[in-house]
Amino acid sequence: MPDTTKLNRRGFLKLSGGGGVAAAATLVPFTSANAQAAPADPSKTTLNYPNKAVTAAQKLTVDAALPFSYPDERSPCTAIKLGSPVPGGVGPDRDIVAYSTLCTHMGCPTIYDNSTKTFKCPCHFSEFDAEKAGQMICGQATENLPRVLLRYDEASDTVSAVGIDGLIYGRQANII
Ligand code: FES
Repeated sequence: MPDTTKLNRRGFLKLSGGGGVAAAATLVPFTSANAQAAPADPSKTTLNYPNKAVTAAQKLTVDAALPFSYPDERSPCTAIKLGSPVPGGVGPDRDIVAYSTLCTHMGCPTIYDNSTKTFKCPCHFSEFDAEKAGQMICGQATENLPRVLLRYDEASDTVSAVGIDGLIYGRQANII
């Protein structure tokens, strides 16, 4: 009586060969054509951001925080005139910036510290640089503070919020 527990070379190839062909037939090489689309950036939206007038530029004084909400009433933000031009700054001196004030770690309201030009979170001490697009400096947060995109209309001296760069804490999309 043959030993059925042993598989000789021929038997192994018979068994595995067919399976290998079947498996090979279902394998599809990875190419850019069949790659899945990159995950959508939730800070972007297919809905339009509102265009909201925030203030007249001449009403802002250096380092005085101006609270407002954007893109809706549940999203607290702060506009700051920093006193010197910064990338992304708007207004006559290109020094006006604005951020969502909700910390990107767990959503605590951050507070602007004019002595360091940073937003500081009182909950776990994350800090964000207002002069560098909300860049996280230290703390528990891993994301920068979402920056409110501003537009300046020279004719009316109006600073308006027109979008957000970054995802507001607690949201799956900025426009909800
Ligand atoms: S909520 Fe701001 S650091 Fe934790």
